Amino acid sequence: MPAAQQSTPQAQALLAKWALRSFILLLLIATGAWLDRIKDRWYVFDPAELNALAQAAIASSPNNTAGMIQHIVANLTSTFPSTHVRINVDSSEWLLNNAGGAMGAMYIIHASITEYLLIFGTPLGTEGHSGLHPAEDYFNILVGEEWAFAPGQLEMERYTPGMVHYLPRGTVKQYKMHEGCFALEYARGWIPLMAPFGLTDGLTSTLDFPTLYKTAKITLREMGKNLFVGKI
Ligand SMILES: *[C@@H]1O[C@H](CO)[C@@H](O)[C@H](O)[C@H]1NC(C)=O
Ligand SMILES: *[C@@H]1O[C@H](CO)[C@@H](O)[C@H](O)[C@H]1NC(C)=O
Repeated sequence: MPAAQQSTPQAQALLAKWALRSFILLLLIATGAWLDRIKDRWYVFDPAELNALAQAAIASSPNNTAGMIQHIVANLTSTFPSTHVRINVDSSEWLLNNAGGAMGAMYIIHASITEYLLIFGTPLGTEGHSGLHPAEDYFNILVGEEWAFAPGQLEMERYTPGMVHYLPRGTVKQYKMHEGCFALEYARGWIPLMAPFGLTDGLTSTLDFPTLYKTAKITLREMGKNLFVGKI
């Protein structure tokens, strides 16, 4: 037998180890690709219905942001049975949020592995980077205006109450909530993968650890309660 074809036990063990590692890696990639193709089956919210709800909330409580939020939460709790979808009805649970250079406050209405629904805004105005997300984002304006643009556009997009700013997965823009603005934000996709964008400013800039802690606690609590009723 030629010397080149002889392999020592060590070489064989090394080969077996790397074959196993490659196999596990391929299995993970295949599982990820498969989960990504079937994730739609876990969605319970519909972008068009949420936009209709935002418009109904604006119509039922003009000039009253708190009234709009109450309308939205009341509608969602009567639409979705608590045995299937967890809705957080505690609208006093506002959290400061810094992400992509923008700052505002949010109230998390729903958070699960594949969807979130929250109110985000500020009465002061803010501006920043949309973030590069592994999710689709629907930003329903309730109060004020949001402006946005992507590189190459020489004119801004302008979103007013009742309109929805749709950001497809992987799209990036600069956005501005001009003066006071509040929106109902719906995201669908891999929500836990959005966490780094939501938390990095807190860890590297604001160092507001109590807010980071509360944000993590409320998000995990809501995701856990959804998992408990079978909402992925
Ligand atoms: C929720 O809001 C939508 C949109 O306004 C409306 O069509 C639907 O009837 C509402 N559902 C409940 C239970 O109020
Ligand atoms: C809302 O506020 C604006 C400006 O303060 C005012 O002009 C308008 O009449 C108000 N609309 C309602 C329905 O109260």
